Amino acid sequence: MTGDQADIWESLYTTRAMRRMRPDPVPIDVQARILDAAIRAPSGGDSQPWRFLLVDDADVKARLAAPYRESIALLWRGHYADQVAAAAADPEAPASQRFLKLQSSVQYLADHFEEVPLLLFAFSRNDRDGGSIFPAVWSAMLAARAQGVGSALTNVLDIFRPDTTRAVLGVPPDRGWQLKATVAMGYPKGRWGVAARQPAHAVTYRNTWGADAGFTVDQPLWSP
Ligand SMILES: Cc1cc2nc3c(=O)[nH]c(=O)nc-3n(C[C@H](O)[C@H](O)[C@H](O)COP(=O)(O)O)c2cc1C
Repeated sequence: MTGDQADIWESLYTTRAMRRMRPDPVPIDVQARILDAAIRAPSGGDSQPWRFLLVDDADVKARLAAPYRESIALLWRGHYADQVAAAAADPEAPASQRFLKLQSSVQYLADHFEEVPLLLFAFSRNDRDGGSIFPAVWSAMLAARAQGVGSALTNVLDIFRPDTTRAVLGVPPDRGWQLKATVAMGYPKGRWGVAARQPAHAVTYRNTWGADAGFTVDQPLWSP
């Protein structure tokens, strides 16, 4: 592949949460490819119970920035309160360092929400666990990566500010559409990297829970 474009393997390995983005707009044909790939994804009974809403209007983004920042503030005070306290108590501990890095990246996106070039809102209905929308969302993120566009999946607006978000976006109130994900998209400021994760063999069993997977993967099987 040339430039920042990526094939399927590179996309699978390097689609990270990309929260620091350049202001350059994402061209409309690139957006079309992202959505056209997304709607190929599976859904229960092929119901395709989705609607996607793209936002690149400065005024709409600005109206969502405060709710997004409030949501992230609630996240630090709620779900992540223990980690925030632990990191403050012992900032040099490896776990604190990892958390502080994540927190800084998450907060950066919140602080610059109105500068994100493109927001993709994914809605579904009759889809309580999101199983019929997240494959499409992830396909959109992979298709973005394949074209050199970074993305960050977020769900705080649907958790903490669903009504405000729906009102700003003009979502009809009575048709069952639920916001499931907000994906920030834009060309990255930084470089693409392979996500560090627990290795596949550590989280995979074969035939019986807890039994050896039958393979060991000590290093990623794709590298740049
Ligand atoms: C369901 C879900 C919700 C997420 N919500 C947020 C969010 O609200 N804000 C954010 O900045 N990142 C959010 N993320 C991104 C994760 O923090 C990210 O995928 C994880 O830290 C791994 O990052 P990496 O791929 O760069 O290693 C979310 C991811 C998922 C799958």
